[in-house]
Formats: sequence, structure tokens, C-alpha cells
Amino acid sequence: MTNESDVPSSDLEALFRPSAIAVIGASANSAKIGHILVHHILHSGYDGAVYPINPKEDEILGLDVYENVADTPTAVDVAIIAVPARFVVDVVEECGEAGVKFLIIVTSGFGEVGDLSTERRIVETAHQYGTRVLGPNIFGIYSAAANLNATFGPAEIIPGNIGLISQSGALGIALMGKTVTEGLGLSAIISVGNKSDLSEVELLDHLTTDDATKSILIYMEGTKDGHRLAETVTKIEERKPIVIIKSGRSAVGAKAAASHTGSLAGSDRVFDSAFRQIGMLRADGINEAFNWMRAFSTQPLPEGENVVIITNGGGVGVMAADACERHHLMLLDDTQRLEKIFRDSVPEFGSTRNPVDITGQADSDAYARALDAALSEERIHAVIGLYCETATVDAESLTAGIAEIVSEYDGVKPVVFSMIGGEKAAQMMGLLNDRSIPAYSSPEEAVSSLGALYQHWRYKRESDLGITIEDGPSFDMETIEAVIHRARAEERVQLLETEAKEVLTAAGLTMPQSRLAHSLVESVEAAESIGYPVVMKVVSPDIVHKTESGGVKLNLLDEQEVVDAYRSIMATCRERFPAAHIVGVTVNEMVNVQKGMETIVGGLTDPAFGPVVMFGLGGIYVEILKDVSFRVAPISQSKALKMVREIRSFPMLYGARGKKIKDIRAAAEAIYRVSYLMTRIDEIAELDINPLIVMKRGKGCKVLDARITLHTQ
Ligand code: COA
Repeated sequence: MTNESDVPSSDLEALFRPSAIAVIGASANSAKIGHILVHHILHSGYDGAVYPINPKEDEILGLDVYENVADTPTAVDVAIIAVPARFVVDVVEECGEAGVKFLIIVTSGFGEVGDLSTERRIVETAHQYGTRVLGPNIFGIYSAAANLNATFGPAEIIPGNIGLISQSGALGIALMGKTVTEGLGLSAIISVGNKSDLSEVELLDHLTTDDATKSILIYMEGTKDGHRLAETVTKIEERKPIVIIKSGRSAVGAKAAASHTGSLAGSDRVFDSAFRQIGMLRADGINEAFNWMRAFSTQPLPEGENVVIITNGGGVGVMAADACERHHLMLLDDTQRLEKIFRDSVPEFGSTRNPVDITGQADSDAYARALDAALSEERIHAVIGLYCETATVDAESLTAGIAEIVSEYDGVKPVVFSMIGGEKAAQMMGLLNDRSIPAYSSPEEAVSSLGALYQHWRYKRESDLGITIEDGPSFDMETIEAVIHRARAEERVQLLETEAKEVLTAAGLTMPQSRLAHSLVESVEAAESIGYPVVMKVVSPDIVHKTESGGVKLNLLDEQEVVDAYRSIMATCRERFPAAHIVGVTVNEMVNVQKGMETIVGGLTDPAFGPVVMFGLGGIYVEILKDVSFRVAPISQSKALKMVREIRSFPMLYGARGKKIKDIRAAAEAIYRVSYLMTRIDEIAELDINPLIVMKRGKGCKVLDARITLHTQ
């Protein structure tokens, strides 16, 4: 890939609204991709110039054919390349010479099959001429703004307000097809394929500023550009809903790492946290994503928390209420107010409590009245309508009634429906969806879709999304750099515990008092000056797991115990590691762990997102329950506080089971500092503070043990 500075800057306007397109490899043979592309472009109503390029033909689909892209009568904005792989570099050169602005390279057979060098040549050649490359290995692009279907997917695409970006070709085409059967309209579809030059980051940037695009759906398999993605999404002023389907959830923790943080990271954990951090909505799969897109493309965002469920079936009402809890939706529970609002629409034997149950006997008028009451009430901010197919309700008149009332209050508040039953229910669902009223076949889907609207609404109000770019805390950088320099000079990637603590102290974290002793006499002197009880630990670059190696002695109460511990450590370590270079021991203040809570703060360089931080409680919480939170670094103090609150075991820090509330702010401060340490010192590959003892409120926290691993050079 070329350097960032070599990349020609260009906005993507001409890619989405080209005035002339060339199809290189256009064919008269209707089975070939080069033919289908020309056919779809013409069929979609694109009114710019279309130039088929083919050395042998004179005419394709009624258009004049040119031998070379240089021969076209007007300048070409976009050239779609569909010639075999071996010709592509030459064609790219010709396009560059002819001043083509964008290349859409459909051809496969480059990076995805291991030929990265040709792919690199393509991009380098294009960039020499200021040309940008989409692909290779893609199905093309659709742009509603230009009535342009330059894909070899379905010929018919419904224009609308959803922007779709797909990393996978085949799935992208399938998703495109599904939007048609689901009746969802698209503003754009872009297949990014091998992402040799343009990636989802630039495309996302374009779509978020494109007026025709209201929401965005991305299918992603992976990215090397996570940090840039996070920066781009965060800087977007108008936060449009961005729904992401990311495959690869199961590949968690595949890495055999030296630290807890590393082993827990597995990139999907990081992806998941990063998406939440930057306000992207991760759907569980294709169906959920489409359900959400249906809601985003038709409904306004809510303006308050009060949700009301209207149902003609008690059971589904309860199911929806359960789902509301899972999706963090708040059901209005002011019974008096509810009674007032729904008194006239709910029969005697129904319930005006939320879920409002108009009962199975209710007719379509009763349903419409209840809906009207909910939509007209200011203190209700969103409505979930449930309908169980019964013989008492005429499906057609109910659908018409719902559509009329919803259109009367159009855009005032979000409404979602679920029609449960057989053929009649399915028919009603179709009719509502045709009228841009989102209707689903189960209450859970309706609630999940409203939940997505709420999640986005909350993201929009959140002022602290994304990666923090404030100045951050001040560090003693000289000390940190000196420690790293020393380790490098000795060709070590693993810092000694003393060095790791030196780095963390320089970054403003608090250690228990500690002194390095090279002899028995020095050990006793150190213990006397710190005060008993003390902890003694071996210092050796060759002994990583100190406790398991007999290199740690705790709770030493007097001089004699210090003497015995020193002798025991030296004897055991020398016996187990005869070749180890033993520098001496550290004598440390014994922190009363019982009075504090063991936590772990980690940092690592993620391959996609760069520096990230992790927090969790120590022991079983991290090792067995994997109860940790992640963020892309650096983060603010308030975001670090959220990270602390986010773990499931947070109540343990908050004084559960009669224990004193812990110094949560101090823990957040430590995470915040580690996040900046990871960002500023890019030599650090992994960092583990395990444990960080968080004392009771006001007493701070102390680093008991720490490990820092540098990148191998
Ligand atoms: N300039 C212009 N036209 C050229 C050319 C050049 N330099 N070199 C060849 N052509 C023409 C050919 O003559 C042919 O036209 P014809 O039918 O009139 O003979 C046309 O380009 C296509 O070439 P052909 O050799 O027939 O290839 P093809 O159509 O079988 O396959 C690709 C070409 C690009 C479709 C194929 O190589 C490929 O990569 N397929 C996979 C595409 C894919 O799946 N992409 C990812 C989707 S997600």
C-alpha cells in the first residue's frame, strides 16, 4: 500500500454522481459481467454518458464502442474494469493517462488469492495520476442520486434512504436482493472488496454527509483501519444511525498471549466495545439488521423515554414487556395517567395498565381509538402496537385504520407493530410495511427495532462518544523513555517488574512503597524503613512467573522473617533457574488486600484499533467470567468511569454484601492514565496491572504487580 501522504485527496462526489462512465471489458455476450454492467447502467436510467470499451466490437446494447478509454468523446469520471486480472495493470495505466478520476475494479484474482504485489502496483499506478481505486474484487456501485446501477447484482433496486457498504461481494449482492424483496429503499450500495485504496472509512465519511442517506448498513469481516474508522465516525457532526453486521464473533481470544489483557482481547471483544464506544449499532445478523433498517428508514427518533404497548392479547403484551426490559426500553407506568388516556378505548374487561390490553374481543375501532389516544398524548414518546389474529377483527379495516391514524401523526413519534398469526397477519404486515409503517412477525422483533432507535437516540445525546483528543494527563516522559531505552539496549521486550512500576509511577499511578535490595543486609534495612509487614519479591529478567517460582514471600512481620524469606527465595530460584540472572529482591509495603478490591487494568495494541484499555475485577471475575470492559484509547476520565460501571460485577466495588464502597474514581483515573500511556508510548505491546488494589472511597488505589511487554522490533 502507498503512504498516506501519497494518496490523492479527492472527494467522492464524482464517484456517486459521475457525468461519464466507461465500462472496460464491455461485452456483446449477454452472459458476461462486462455486458451485464452496461445493461444495468442503461436499465437504471442513468443519464450521463456511457462508453463501452472493447477492442473488437463496434456496438454493444445500442452504444458506440471505443477501443481505448483514451478515445472517448468526453472525459471519463468513473471507469469500471471487468477484464481478466492479467490485463488490469495496463488498463489502470491507460485510465490514469486518460484522466479517469475513479476506478471500480470488478476483476478478482489479486490480494484475496495472495497476489498482493499486483494489487499494490494497481494502486501505485492509479495514484501516480491522482486516480482513486474501489476494489478490486467487487460487484460495483449503486447510486440513487445518479439513477446508477453499476453492479452485476439485481437489475431492479428500490431507491430510498439507506446506504449499504459491503466487504463481501456475494453477501453484498444477496443483501441488495433482500432489500428489494423487503421493500427497503437504498440511497447507495458500495462493495469495497479488497479495499486496496478506498475503504469503508472514506465511504462512510461520504455517506454521512450525503443528504439522501438517512441511515447506513455495513457488512464487515474485518478491518486494519479501526482507529481511523473510530475517528471518522466520531467526528461526524450529524450522527446518523450506522448499523453494522460484523462476522467473526466466535474467534475470541484466539491469541496465546503472555498477559491476561492479551488473552482476553481477541479482536471481536475489542470490535464490540469499539462499536459501542463510537456509537455504531451492532446487529446480531442479517434479519436483525434489516428489521432495524426498516425502523430507521421510516420512523423518527423518540424524544423521551416513555414507551406504551397496545395489544389485543395479554400474552404477547407480556412477551413484549419482557423484551423491553432486555432492550432497555422504559414502559410508562403511571397507572392513573394511563387510566385517563385509555379509559375510553379499553373495554371494561381490558386493562389500561401498560401493556394496554384492549383484549381479544376488541374490534378494529377499539384498536384505532387506543392507538389514537397513545399517539396524541405528549407524555408518550413511542408506541408498540401488537395484534394477534382473531376472528373479531377485520384485518383490512384494522390496517386501513392504523395507517390513517399513523399518517395523521406522521413523524411525531416512532411506532412499530407486530402482527402475529397466519395468513391474515402476514397480509396486514405487508400492507403496513408498504405504507412505511414498520411491522414485524414477532413482538421481540418490534421491540428490538424500537430498541435500536432508542440506542441511537441515546448515542446522539451522549457528548462523550469516541476517542478522546484532549491533552490528557502529564507524564514524566523522560523516565519512561529511559526505561524503555534500557530494555531495548539489553534486547529485552519484557520489562522487569521494577521497570514496569517505574513506568507506571512516571505515568502518575501509585505504587506501594518499594525498595530494591541487592543483599540480605539491604533487605532488612529496606523493611525497617518501610515498616512491617512487608512483601519480598525476586527481581530477575529470567523469572517471569515469580509466585509459581517461589520468588514471592508475603506478610513478613519482623527482621527474622525477612532474613528467612530472603534465603528461601534465593535458594529456590537458584535451584529452579540455575542460569537466571538474579538482580536481588524488592521489599514492598504490604497492602491490606482484604480492605480493598483486586482489579485488573490492562492495555494492548489491537491489530485493528491500535491501543486499547481493559478493566475488570481480578481473580475469577477476569479468569473465569471474563467480566471485563474495553475501550479504544485514549479515553477521558468520565469514559473510564463508565468502563468501571459497565462490568457485571460492578456492585462488588459499590459496596455489595456489606463491604465499604471502593474508590471508583481512583480506579477510573488509573484506567485513564493507562489509556494515555498506551497511546503515547507506541513501543508498548501489552500491559497488565494485576492486581490494582482499589481501596475504600477516598483512599485511592495501588499497583501491586505490573507487567509490560514491548513490541518485538
Ligand atoms: N480492454 C477492453 N476490453 C478487453 C480488454 C482490454 N484491455 N481485454 C479484454 N477485453 C474484453 C474481452 O475481449 C472480452 O470481450 P468479448 O466478450 O467481446 O471477447 C471482455 O473484455 C471480457 O474479457 P473475458 O476474457 O471474456 O473475461 P470474462 O468476462 O470471462 O471475465 C472478469 C472477466 C473480470 C469478469 C473475470 O476475470 C473476473 O474477475 N471474474 C470475477 C468477478 C467477481 O466475481 N468479482 C467480485 C464480485 S463480488
